[in-house]
Amino acid sequence: MNQEEAQKRIQQLRTELEEHNYNYYVLAKPVISDFDFDMKLKELEKLETEFPQFADSNSPTQRVGSDLSNDFEQVEHKYSMLSLSNAYSEGEIRDFDTRVKKIIETNCDYVCELKFDGTSISLTYENGELIRAVTRGDGVRGDDVTANVRTIKSIPLKLRGDNYPDLFEIRGEIVMPFNVFDELNSELEKAGEPLLANPRNTAAGTLKMKNSKVVASRKLDAYLYYIIGKDLPEDGHYENLQKAREWGFKISDAMQICKNLDEVFAYIRKWDVERHKLPVATDGIVIKVNSINLQENLGFTAKSPRWAIAYKFKAENVATVLKSVSYQVGRTGAVTPVANLEPVQIAGTMVKRASLHNADIIANLDLHIGDTVFVEKGGEIIPKITGVDATKRHPMFQPVTFINECPECKTPLIRKEGEAAHYCPNEDGCPPQIKGKMEHFVSRKGMDIDGLGQETIDLLYNEGLAKTIIDLYELKKEQLAALERMGEKSAQRILDGLEASKQVPFERVLFALGIRFVGETVAKTLVKKLHTIENIQTATLEQLTEIDEIGEKIAESVVEWFSNETHIQLIEKLKAHGLRFKIGEEQLAGQTDKLNGLSIIISGTFEIHSRDELKKLIEKNGGKNVGSISKKTNYLLAGKNIGPSKLEKAKKLNIPIISEEEFLRMLE
Ligand code: IVH
Repeated sequence: MNQEEAQKRIQQLRTELEEHNYNYYVLAKPVISDFDFDMKLKELEKLETEFPQFADSNSPTQRVGSDLSNDFEQVEHKYSMLSLSNAYSEGEIRDFDTRVKKIIETNCDYVCELKFDGTSISLTYENGELIRAVTRGDGVRGDDVTANVRTIKSIPLKLRGDNYPDLFEIRGEIVMPFNVFDELNSELEKAGEPLLANPRNTAAGTLKMKNSKVVASRKLDAYLYYIIGKDLPEDGHYENLQKAREWGFKISDAMQICKNLDEVFAYIRKWDVERHKLPVATDGIVIKVNSINLQENLGFTAKSPRWAIAYKFKAENVATVLKSVSYQVGRTGAVTPVANLEPVQIAGTMVKRASLHNADIIANLDLHIGDTVFVEKGGEIIPKITGVDATKRHPMFQPVTFINECPECKTPLIRKEGEAAHYCPNEDGCPPQIKGKMEHFVSRKGMDIDGLGQETIDLLYNEGLAKTIIDLYELKKEQLAALERMGEKSAQRILDGLEASKQVPFERVLFALGIRFVGETVAKTLVKKLHTIENIQTATLEQLTEIDEIGEKIAESVVEWFSNETHIQLIEKLKAHGLRFKIGEEQLAGQTDKLNGLSIIISGTFEIHSRDELKKLIEKNGGKNVGSISKKTNYLLAGKNIGPSKLEKAKKLNIPIISEEEFLRMLE
């Protein structure tokens, strides 16, 4: 065979094999025998070996994976991967509907879908070819797991037809079917190995395996449910996914358009029963506004889209026996009681422990050691105790009484007024608090220090090498390399990670310090408003609470933290090590006070910017984006299709109505 003939045959085989894959794994309707499929695959493999110039990473032969070790590069998501807000009752779905209608001011179709219980993935296709597959990670950055994803047979490597956008992302859930999971576990059992907990964790673990050949053998599956891109064929989410099915994606047949809430509730009732017949795990229903135009109008909160909500199925409830209660101390000193239970199987997982949250919960349940308790496990939430079977209580059973002293350092516990949790106040001397703070400091969302995780921090602490965050920056290579299971290479990696952390932006440094109630969002707000650590340190309670989104509780915590001399010294030392304690130039660049003090409401759909972009512009220029109209609103920024009632209200209150162009001119 000459080059030209080979190239032609290779092309033909690839198209044919991909088509058979689609028939088998997406449609579940194979048209050739496994044997014939294998013969064609072998022929293709042989030709590709003979003519390596025609190699293609998206060839069907690549689906078997390779033994080469995968190194996952971290990549930033083009669009953040957010999660969904949850609803547990019809009432909460009605509230969702009310919120939606209040913003869009019109009726709308909803799409109901199954909520697949796996691990989410974002796939990018360019010119009809899979170019990248990234895990959710922290929502902003994820791991590039393309090599592993190529082994999942229901994910098309090349798309069918030609009416797909040139570039788009499609997101979905990677799942491990029950039968594959059971088979895997019975093999483990035979080999005397520990068993896997559930299909979801196993799917997630498999996706991150170093060896893609093993991934290929694990028979993962994928359902896609969210397509994002600039030139989507239709305005309907539902309609676009029907198109995506034609392009080769596995789209669940259970998806359905619902015209009103009654149809949504009927869908939920139906699938709460039917889902038990499915080959994969589901833990709820997702309800989405169908029109993408309306979705854009609704936009996102910091955590989730306003145009969708997840209804979670009621969790399975199982009875078991409470053996004892132990107490854990977290990095903030909060003491969490944990119930140790007679192990019991719930929703596919073995449950041995459950969080009891705080002393009130224990008191309300009137818990006694030896009680028969009801345990519930919903999705990824830690199992919880929902009740006690008092009829099974023996008169000799002793009530659970909350401890008075820290179980780790014996300091008497305190409980602040109005707070549910007990705290160990020995912030700088209680081992789990110190270690917890260091772990938080080096974590991905904090300083993101490569090579330093919980185990290494434990080791460093126990060996006396790091008793505070500062000590981390004073570690020597020889000290690290001498540690157990650590070599020169890992030691260098940690040192490099520490060095690199000096470039981490101030808001993450502030978050990493672990001040109570200063999470990622609060840290960002503080940095945006106050710019430097000195300003934050000297800000008074009043100055802090004047900032939007900073309440009294947060303000008090910040002031208290900075009133501690140890913390001031910590900051001075970290400064000396070169960490960033002021806002970055680039961040400062786009900021103005052109809209200082102005409240602006956005309504309708826009031509130049999305609603989210407009919101960011308002905030960057010192304004405030408000959700509902009132006398205090300064402008109504109106796009197309603005609802009549909002317009009327604005006119009545004499609020100036401005167009997108006019708004942008204000910023010039
Ligand atoms: S839509 C912007 N649809 O549930 C949010 N998510 O709790 C887009 N999930 O992170 C997500 N089935 O991993 C959507 N039909 C479905 C889903 C689904 C499962 C997962 C997904 C998401 C999580 C949110």
